[in-house]
Amino acid sequence: MAKPESVAASYQFLREYIAGQTGIELGPDRQYLVESRLEPVMEEVGCQSLAELCVALLRENQSVPSYAHAAAPIRRKIIHALSTHETSFFRDPDLFALLQSRLLKQLSEENGCHRLRMWSAAASSGQEAYSLAMCALETGVYAPPLIFASDVSAIVIEAASRGCFTDYELLRGMDDPVLRQRYFVPIKGGAQVKPEIRALIEFSCADLREPPNAKFAPLDLILCRNVMIYFEEETRLQVLSHLRDQLRQGGILILGAAETIWSHFVGLERIQEGNTAFYRRIE
Ligand SMILES: C[S@@+](CC[C@H](N)C(=O)[O-])C[C@H]1O[C@@H](n2cnc3c(N)ncnc32)[C@H](O)[C@@H]1O
Repeated sequence: MAKPESVAASYQFLREYIAGQTGIELGPDRQYLVESRLEPVMEEVGCQSLAELCVALLRENQSVPSYAHAAAPIRRKIIHALSTHETSFFRDPDLFALLQSRLLKQLSEENGCHRLRMWSAAASSGQEAYSLAMCALETGVYAPPLIFASDVSAIVIEAASRGCFTDYELLRGMDDPVLRQRYFVPIKGGAQVKPEIRALIEFSCADLREPPNAKFAPLDLILCRNVMIYFEEETRLQVLSHLRDQLRQGGILILGAAETIWSHFVGLERIQEGNTAFYRRIE
C-alpha cells in the first residue's frame, strides 16, 4: 500500500486496512468516527496525525509477520480501536432463558451426555462465553462444558481471558447476587470470574474469515452474534460456511437478533421459539 499524504487519503488507507484485516466495512461517512477512535492510539504511539500513524503502521507491517500479534502493537491497537466491542452478560435474556430452560440439556442428551462443546465466535471481552458457562452449570448439564472463545482483536481476547470486570460491566446483566457469589470473587472496583470457571474456556485470537481451528469441531453450539452486520454479503457467506461445517449434525448456530441467514443457504434449518430464532445443522 502506498504512503497516504492527506487526511482523506489516510482515511481511505485505514478503511482498506481494516477491511483487509477484519472484514469490517467502514462506510465513506465514518471518517470522523475513525479519527476520534484513533486519537488515543496516536497519542500512545506518539504520532501527530493520521498520516503519521499510517506510516508507522506500514513500517511495522514490513518488519512483523501478519500472525505475530504480540509483536505488532500498532496493528493490535488499530484493529482494537476500529472494531466495535459492545457486549454484556446474558445479552438477549430470552435467548439465555431458552438455553438454560431447555436447549443445553437437549444438546447434551443428543451428544450422549458428553461435555458440551460450544464456541463464542467474536467473543469480545468475554461476557458471552462466561454467560454460556454459567448457563450450562446452572442447567446442571451432565459434564462441565468446554467453551472456545475467539475474537480478531488480540487486546479484547486477552482481557476476556483474565475475566476481570468492573462494577459497571457487571451491572449490565450480572446483577444477580447469587450468581455473582457463585461464579465471581470480588476485586478492587469489580469482580473476577473464579479460576475454575475460567478453566472451562479456551481463548484465542482468530479471524472468522479463516478456517476455524480444527480442534473446535464437532461443536454442539455456536454463538456468533452481532458481528456479521459489519461484513459484506460475500464475507458473511464465507463465515457462515465455516460455522456450519464446525457443527455436528443437529448442532445449533445462534446469530444476533438483527442477523438472519438467507433461505437458500444450504445445511441449516431455521427454528423460531418465542422471540428467539436459531439454526440447526441438518446435513
Ligand atoms: C459487537 S461485538 C459482539 C460481542 C458478542 N458476540 C455479543 O454479541 O455481545 C463484535 C466483535 O466482533 C469482533 N470481530 C470483528 N471482526 C471480526 C472477525 N473478522 N473475526 C473475528 N472477530 C471479529 C470484534 O473485535 C468485536 O469484539
